[in-house]
Amino acid sequence: MKLVPLFCWLSSLVSVHATPFQHSHLDFSIQGFAKDNPLGETTGGKGGPTTTVSTLPALRTVIAGTNPLTIVAKGIFNLTNQPRLRLGSNKSLLGHKKGAKFVGGGISAINQTNIIIRNVQISFAYDNDCITLQNTTRAWIDHNEFFSDLEHGPDFYDGQVDLVRATDWVTVSWNYFHDHWKSSLVGNSDALREVDTGHLHITYHHNHWSNIGTRGPAGRFGHQHIYNNLYTSFLYQAIHSRSDNQMLIEGNVFRGNTREAVSSYGLVIPEDSPNTCVCGDFEIDGYVNFGARNDWGGAGVNVTQWGTFKKAPYRYQLTRLGDVEDVVVKGAGIGKI
Ligand SMILES: *[C@@H]1O[C@H](CO)[C@@H](O)[C@H](O)[C@H]1NC(C)=O
Ligand SMILES: *[C@@H]1O[C@H](CO)[C@@H](O)[C@H](O)[C@H]1NC(C)=O
Ligand SMILES: *[C@@H]1O[C@H](CO)[C@@H](O)[C@H](O)[C@H]1NC(C)=O
Ligand SMILES: *[C@@H]1O[C@H](CO)[C@@H](O)[C@H](O)[C@H]1NC(C)=O
Ligand SMILES: *[C@@H]1O[C@H](CO)[C@@H](O)[C@H](O)[C@H]1NC(C)=O
Repeated sequence: MKLVPLFCWLSSLVSVHATPFQHSHLDFSIQGFAKDNPLGETTGGKGGPTTTVSTLPALRTVIAGTNPLTIVAKGIFNLTNQPRLRLGSNKSLLGHKKGAKFVGGGISAINQTNIIIRNVQISFAYDNDCITLQNTTRAWIDHNEFFSDLEHGPDFYDGQVDLVRATDWVTVSWNYFHDHWKSSLVGNSDALREVDTGHLHITYHHNHWSNIGTRGPAGRFGHQHIYNNLYTSFLYQAIHSRSDNQMLIEGNVFRGNTREAVSSYGLVIPEDSPNTCVCGDFEIDGYVNFGARNDWGGAGVNVTQWGTFKKAPYRYQLTRLGDVEDVVVKGAGIGKI
């Protein structure tokens, strides 16, 4: 009974005081490793036709193959007890207007190149990742939303965006990751040194992580540039560099309750999903470097070794630290592009 008046009061407060969302001063263009890399800028379906689909069978058909195509997905796609979607090369998968919704399952790209996924919401992907890129090069994952719940523990769902097995030249930007345990894993085993070393160059920028357990991201054997992300109550361990991985971390903001913002200590903590012992899995350490100042918001930072990745090999726009919270809350997620 009391909820109704409170809710009305809150919404009137918001509508009176909120400044309108201004697209004009936010730069949503592609930046980072998906843009600047030795293979060429990620363009997805550019150069090909555009098609709009609103059923799962139609979507499955058009996302296959390597022909350049822009796919506008419209509506809700229920992947519960259905095979995962398999995205082919030279594709842009774009959610229509306020975003396409995928429920109960996710999307993989395996051995593909040049893909863009924007403006889609993927929730409750049971027993698998929302998005997996395996041995896939040049990808831009931008302005999406990913969520489930934390009640079921770390392994009921899986990752939100997992980038594995020699995947390379990826930018993960302006996504809203929330209410989930294991968010984003780069390199899925410490036994894959031969496969992954020299790959896994990933840029993460302007993402909003909120109420997440671990992996924001966790990386092995690669190079990740992590800038201007907002972490609100990233509960156990946010940024983790292990197994000789190199990270450049700058201009990030932590708010709320986060135990550890950054660690290069290799141990896979008990709150993640260790395979061999409830006390955690021992793994060798990673490396980190800090560029522009971060705001750790009281969270712990455990740097065990400084690395060699000190400067990003491309031009990019850093948001002023004091503006990061506001800009990311306004700009990240679906319905913004
Ligand atoms: C699409 O992707 C393939 C790789 O799977 C590539 O070899 C090909 O050149 C691309 N096609 C076009 C028309 O861009
Ligand atoms: C998706 O399908 C499952 C199983 O068929 C069903 O239980 C669920 O309600 C559906 N979800 C939505 C959002 O339609
Ligand atoms: C990906 O490439 C590997 C190595 O060539 C091959 O063994 C595997 O079957 C491919 N997977 C798919 C799904 O095409
Ligand atoms: C990746 O895919 C290429 C072909 O696209 C294949 O030659 C290579 O073996 C694959 N590597 C892995 C690690 O699957
Ligand atoms: C930080 O790293 C050291 C290893 O250098 C380790 O002994 C210690 O337990 C770590 N601290 C935390 C809080 O994990």
